[in-house]
Amino acid sequence: MITTALTRWFDLTAPIVGAPMAGVAGGALARAVSLGGGLGMIGVGNAAAPEFVAEQAAIAAADDDVPFGIGLMAWAIADRPELLAATIAARPALVSVSFGDPAPSVGPLHDAGIAVAAQVNTVADVTRAQEAGVDVLVAQGTEAGGHTGQRALLPLLQEVLTLTDRPVLAAGGIATGAGTAAALVAGAAGVWIGTPLLACPEALNSPAARARVTAAAGEETVLTRAFDVAQGLAWPARWPGRALVNDFSRTWHGREAELAGSPDAARRVVEARRSGDLDAAPLYAGESVGLVTGERSATDVVRELTADAERTLRAVPRLLR
Ligand SMILES: Cc1cc2nc3c(=O)[nH]c(=O)nc-3n(C[C@H](O)[C@H](O)[C@H](O)COP(=O)(O)O)c2cc1C
Repeated sequence: MITTALTRWFDLTAPIVGAPMAGVAGGALARAVSLGGGLGMIGVGNAAAPEFVAEQAAIAAADDDVPFGIGLMAWAIADRPELLAATIAARPALVSVSFGDPAPSVGPLHDAGIAVAAQVNTVADVTRAQEAGVDVLVAQGTEAGGHTGQRALLPLLQEVLTLTDRPVLAAGGIATGAGTAAALVAGAAGVWIGTPLLACPEALNSPAARARVTAAAGEETVLTRAFDVAQGLAWPARWPGRALVNDFSRTWHGREAELAGSPDAARRVVEARRSGDLDAAPLYAGESVGLVTGERSATDVVRELTADAERTLRAVPRLLR
């Protein structure tokens, strides 16, 4: 069995966190990840209702037999304290506060006995997270699906590890047991995976979205603000989103200034999200999407990643003579 600071802290049999993915990772996906031995997280979007948090947490915690986590966006909860309150009331084992300053949330979470994680994309983010008292840092590379920074995972991870003694998880582009083993050997206490869970039947996304994910190649993603600008979302500009290339991003990526003044384009994205039109709605996915080739239970994904990682680690001494 693989043991790390992460598995010991949360009593896991897999060094894997299922990333909180708004619109994709609800209670069922989180629970399936945790049943595989990892720690599944529920993603809470900027427009989520507090009731959503309570409902999904009840699903994740169904028999009180596995731990779960909840992921919040710092910029979104700044003026929605009810989301933090609902999160604390749900009694998760771990809460992540990413994409903004985690400091205001850390005290209330710690007072409730809840560990806090934050995704970091720069050295300044690491300093801020440590000063805020964050317990677990997640080095999120630009390879990641969804909103992310500009730095590649491996150099970022190496640098973060020189800056902190706290457990560091690796996020972005990890989708095989060998990739998981590589992150652990590099010094990570675990991996934080999103894209490998995008074709799981337990996810909240649609069967059509899952079909696009399984058909997409790793070259078919784009890191863009086009979808956020079109919808007038308050996403800070330093975190664009990595999504599958579609008709909308082909037309508008790189023309965000024009997009801001185009009500037609805005309507197109909003309507596409409502109707599930994947040619204009964002389908967030990372560079490992080419490795996601079929629908599979998240429990199986986690178990297989862990077994393959262990096999890889056992073979490592072969490299030495
Ligand atoms: C569809 C999707 C939605 C995401 N939503 C969130 C979110 O709500 N909160 C968050 O902290 N991270 C979110 N992320 C980023 C993940 O937490 C994580 O960093 C990323 O999935 C890891 O890289 P990978 O996708 O290559 O596995 C999302 C990622 C994806 C793919």
